[in-house]
Amino acid sequence: MTKGEMSNTDARVIRVGLLGCGIVGSATCRLLGDHAEEIRMRTGCTVEISRVAVRNLSKDRDVDVPADRFTNDAHAVVNDPEIDVVIEVIGGIEPARTLILEAIDSDKQVVTANKELISSLGGELIAAAEARGVDLLFEASVGGGIPIVRPLEESLAGEKVRSVIGILNGTTNYVLTRMTEDGLSLHDAVAEAQELGYAERDPSADVEGFDAAAKTAILASIAFDTKVTSGDVYREGITAVSQLDIALADRLGYVIKLLAIARLDSGEVEARVHPAMISKNHPLASVRESFNAVFVEGNSVGEIMFYGRGAGGGPTATSVVGDVVAAVRHLSEGGKAHRPHRLLELPVRAFDEIRTQYYLLFEVADQPGVLAQIAAAFGSHEVSIAGVWQEGQGDQAQLVIITHRARERDLQETLHELRGLDVVVEIKSVLRVESEET
Ligand SMILES: NC(=O)c1ccc[n+]([C@@H]2O[C@H](COP(=O)([O-])OP(=O)(O)OC[C@H]3O[C@@H](n4cnc5c(N)ncnc54)[C@H](OP(=O)(O)O)[C@@H]3O)[C@@H](O)[C@H]2O)c1
Repeated sequence: MTKGEMSNTDARVIRVGLLGCGIVGSATCRLLGDHAEEIRMRTGCTVEISRVAVRNLSKDRDVDVPADRFTNDAHAVVNDPEIDVVIEVIGGIEPARTLILEAIDSDKQVVTANKELISSLGGELIAAAEARGVDLLFEASVGGGIPIVRPLEESLAGEKVRSVIGILNGTTNYVLTRMTEDGLSLHDAVAEAQELGYAERDPSADVEGFDAAAKTAILASIAFDTKVTSGDVYREGITAVSQLDIALADRLGYVIKLLAIARLDSGEVEARVHPAMISKNHPLASVRESFNAVFVEGNSVGEIMFYGRGAGGGPTATSVVGDVVAAVRHLSEGGKAHRPHRLLELPVRAFDEIRTQYYLLFEVADQPGVLAQIAAAFGSHEVSIAGVWQEGQGDQAQLVIITHRARERDLQETLHELRGLDVVVEIKSVLRVESEET
């Protein structure tokens, strides 16, 4: 032991109860073991996993925790008076919600990675924790290993954040990368993501944008000191994105990403997840494969980007253990999680009121005057066209239009009118374009 190093016997022992020992739970066990000395040095405490709740006691787990600490009674763990900190990595709404509330009622610090729960019932759980004077920490619920919750809550507490735009789902980013760079179909790219373990057997939570919408709700709530739930977030997945959209985007100087957008505009919050074209020059355009990133814009700080692994046991466990260290520090030195003293009740803007640029792809009849009729439909709904390109000739003629910023409702009314025109054979794609244009 070198000078200044603390012996195990000097350190206060903090007992952790772990709920769930799957991908994140087992990685958390390993990290707490592998980094025990660093954690002791940083907190002055020895953190010990004293009980682990799982569903199936006979499953093999690659963790260094004695078998007699495992139980399938999670309620016994949260009600154990010896336990100081509860880590919930079961996932889903129930029994996670009840277990967390029981842990809070027994005055335990709580750490969770549960985006589904925090994005829907986070307000209730945070209020319960505040009332008991305990921590409820959830860094791992957004962006896996990327620190973003605490930077927004603490490092940027002096800033007015204007927008948070994220690539928050590694599976869809992997799929879009393979479609863009290697020409794979959506089907084949999803199958490959499943083989690599990025996508679940049922990939709909990722591909349809549910996972990203939950994370968007959490980020919007924190960034703007308000309450946004996953049900408030407009959501559209990537299943309609075609190879042709990707190729045309490329020629126009864009890439297609599943973007999670949280923006504060004129006292209203925009919260939406959908595929969008983004300029190749934007920092988010270079986020490839299964990586995630969060791009934050503030009044004073300007632009910041957080980049890294948004999922996986190791990265996610890093965020979980970081929260455990914060909770342990609060137990041993005092203090608590930094939460706003007052939450705003900002309205969430209806999706048909948002304003953005659009890309549209049509199959049109091969006859004179087509463009004039289409342009008239846009004009009658005050959607101004920024550029038009024709692809192919004759029966194969397709029209690509990029609009200036327009209101979603006006765009939808334009589409309705266009569908009634004889010259429009099919509206093949409508994608939003995330741009600097105001
Ligand atoms: N995986 C990631 O990359 C990632 C990233 C960020 C956040 N998260 C979040 O982390 C949480 C855990 O995800 P995960 O991927 O680790 O899930 P997982 O591998 O499916 O693990 C879930 C664990 O919970 C246990 N469990 C289920 N029901 C239980 C019950 N009633 N009582 C006690 N234990 C129970 C399971 O026990 P058995 O092992 O016996 O079945 C399993 O050990 C979720 O909220 C998820 O959204 C995950």
